[in-house]
Amino acid sequence: MNKDIVVSGIRSTGNLHLGNYFGAMRNYVKMQDEFPCFFFVADYHSLTTHPDPLQLKPNVYKVLAENIACGLDPNKVTLYVQSDVPEIPELYLMLNMMAYKGELEKTASFKDKARSQPDNINAGLLTYPTLMAADILIHKAKYVPVGKDQEQHLEMARNFAQRFNHRYGELFPEPYPFNFGNELIKIPSLDGNGKMSKSENENATLYLSDTDEVIRKKVMKAKTDQGPTEPNMAMPDYIENIFDLMKLVSGNDVLEKFTTDYNNCNIRYGDLKKQLAEDMVNFIAPIRTKTIELQQDISSLQSIMKMGKEKARESASNVLDEARKKMGINYYC
Ligand code: ADP
Ligand code: TRP
Repeated sequence: MNKDIVVSGIRSTGNLHLGNYFGAMRNYVKMQDEFPCFFFVADYHSLTTHPDPLQLKPNVYKVLAENIACGLDPNKVTLYVQSDVPEIPELYLMLNMMAYKGELEKTASFKDKARSQPDNINAGLLTYPTLMAADILIHKAKYVPVGKDQEQHLEMARNFAQRFNHRYGELFPEPYPFNFGNELIKIPSLDGNGKMSKSENENATLYLSDTDEVIRKKVMKAKTDQGPTEPNMAMPDYIENIFDLMKLVSGNDVLEKFTTDYNNCNIRYGDLKKQLAEDMVNFIAPIRTKTIELQQDISSLQSIMKMGKEKARESASNVLDEARKKMGINYYC
């Protein structure tokens, strides 16, 4: 097994979707056999938008269940909840001393959120990238499987690691985004506007908990047009999106058939979408069923969380001790 450490997290805000699966979880599942992995539910990160306390708990259980249903094995990886590891906020506090207002304000995700929730531009939102850096550096991770939207946060984590090392002496490796393909993935929404997302664009996002009927309805509503007017025409974005989704869940023969039909101008978009809908149903249904089964056994989920908490704290407390020592916070030895 490779010794390089892997860390990644998913916020507990709403339902996981196909973008989370292909951008993040598919890589998690592959990495668990090759690397020491730490995967967690980022519940502190979800607090920036003030979730209803009554919903937080079921959401955390659900993200955990969905991770396991997608193939993560809690005996192979360390699977935990962020707020169960107090070493993370302690490192976050230290890193905040090295994070500057100007760079935090320039972060794309901060600017987006500040625009979309002008009445709640809180300090947690501003320092979201330092908390994320703490999540990663607390285990000295080198690889972080995430989707394309997280690239800037990873760059900031590298900056904070470098600054710490420069000021206090070498401690943290620089973490890089990771994907088994060459490029980081962005799963587009079905209406051709932006990406699939937990809370926006709900009708154009396929959730891992959608029923067969809902999946069929959403796919059949995907945007198309009159069809190509000349052979081998370039595809408009929204048609390319449908083919891209097909690449993820359909067989090669199916993809070849529809690509040839498109290039020969005899494609029937109704048939294309029907095929995609069935392949999506076959892909999502087993994950949904397994998630429901796991959610019915809360005490097993709690045991998994507890085991993850212990393993995560063991690793985190060692690194935190080193960080404290480097900073001179070691008054009793
Ligand atoms: P969301 O953006 O839906 O709120 P998160 O921010 O919790 O989801 O993201 C969890 C992981 O899923 C991250 O690694 C993120 O990069 C990835 N991800 C989210 N949406 C997409 C998407 N549409 N395509 C690819 N990856 C995505
Ligand atoms: N910021 C990530 C997102 O919105 C979630 C996240 C929090 C994360 N901490 C992390 C991802 C650490 C990777 C590593 O998707």
